[in-house]
Amino acid sequence: MTQFYSKNSNSLKGTIEVPGDKSISQRALILGAMAIGQTQIKGLSTSEDVNNLIKNLKLLGVKIIKKNSITLIYGVGIGGFKKTKKKLDMGNSGTATRLMLGALCNQNFNAKFIGDKSLSGRNMYELIKPLKKMGVEINSKNNSLPILIKGCNETIPIIYNQKIPSAQIKSSVLIASLNSPGISTVIENTPTRNHTEILLKLFGAKIKINKFKKKNIIKLKGQKDLKAKNISIMGDPSSAAIIGSSALITKKSEIKIKNININKTRITFFNILKKMNAKIKISEKKIISKEIIGDITFKSSNLKGIHLNKQTVANMIDEIPIFCILASFAKGNSSFAGGKELKNKESNRIKSLYEGLKKCGIKVKKKSEGLMILGNSNNSNTNLVKVKTYFDHRIAMSFLIMGIASNKRIIVDNTSCIKTSFPNFLTLMKSIGAIFIKKNKKKLLKLKKTA
Ligand code: S3P
Repeated sequence: MTQFYSKNSNSLKGTIEVPGDKSISQRALILGAMAIGQTQIKGLSTSEDVNNLIKNLKLLGVKIIKKNSITLIYGVGIGGFKKTKKKLDMGNSGTATRLMLGALCNQNFNAKFIGDKSLSGRNMYELIKPLKKMGVEINSKNNSLPILIKGCNETIPIIYNQKIPSAQIKSSVLIASLNSPGISTVIENTPTRNHTEILLKLFGAKIKINKFKKKNIIKLKGQKDLKAKNISIMGDPSSAAIIGSSALITKKSEIKIKNININKTRITFFNILKKMNAKIKISEKKIISKEIIGDITFKSSNLKGIHLNKQTVANMIDEIPIFCILASFAKGNSSFAGGKELKNKESNRIKSLYEGLKKCGIKVKKKSEGLMILGNSNNSNTNLVKVKTYFDHRIAMSFLIMGIASNKRIIVDNTSCIKTSFPNFLTLMKSIGAIFIKKNKKKLLKLKKTA
């Protein structure tokens, strides 16, 4: 396998765009498929997760055509998917799996979901519970993939008091409720990303969201046809977070990332960066397809450490890996706690981060469902370090960024997982001046000996 190490690179400069948001892309495809008429999506994510979802929707009888940056979906209506004998291979995507399980609650046929090793290790119990309550049959061995689902013509409307913050589970229950005779309620105790609610409204679903103390009370009236829409999807803030961070921790750098989705449920990480003394600026705000969009400029900064609580962690769940990298360059200690959900991501992120940071010589301690990272612990040795990614794209990208900002040469054991979310990550990073060195195994071994 080709391997890279990222090399200390300064003066990262440029104005770039990152691919369309993955969360919105998956939702737009599924809701477009469940709508009546032709939905047109501009700027769909180029990630492998999204491409796999397209394949699965096609297996379920949905016609989807891609023409340059436009994707056309010929919706089949709620309950209109066709039975397939083929297994639905969800690859690495927890989001597509959970959302499609919700969508297939509206179908009275058997469908089998499978996934890759990382996805098959993820627990789906918290989703299986409410879906079963809605009258759906779900069989699985250990509450993980492979899963066999048989939906129904009408799901039972439920009141779902969601204890674990998860946009995927909330979204799945809402999509499953589309064919319920009556009103379904999701009580979201810790609000999470709200793209499903925004898109459901856009597609004409009868959905109402009320705030009660810090909770969201979401009510959806079932049996409503969705109407096809034209949607434009802008840059993924989680991808922007990774690239933007590289400018903060390298010298004489300034990167502008244009047209990023800055929905308030997605910008906690950027707000935390400001508290860490980061030089970041949001400009050119506008609304596109009911989402807030803006440009963000990131400049070299002297970061200071910060401690994140459970609520904050829930709102920047995908940015915790890059946060840990930044924390190792910051002045003063940083930590996060209450990240139980991090154990059920593409890898057990608390474990993979702990191991990776340790391997890179960072002083890190385990906390209850979190980590404490000692500031300024990025030492100046030039060792060659190999980090285990556990096939987790965000772990792979985050440690490559660490290599760009430190003297260490960092190799990750798997770079192909990056395409899960961000296939052009290396190309974009190179375009702003980052150096990655490709090495074959033999040369790497040689290098190791001399390091
Ligand atoms: C996502 C929600 C989050 C996030 C994932 C995408 C979504 O997962 O980690 O990358 O699109 O709804 P959870 O809902 O499990 O927290």
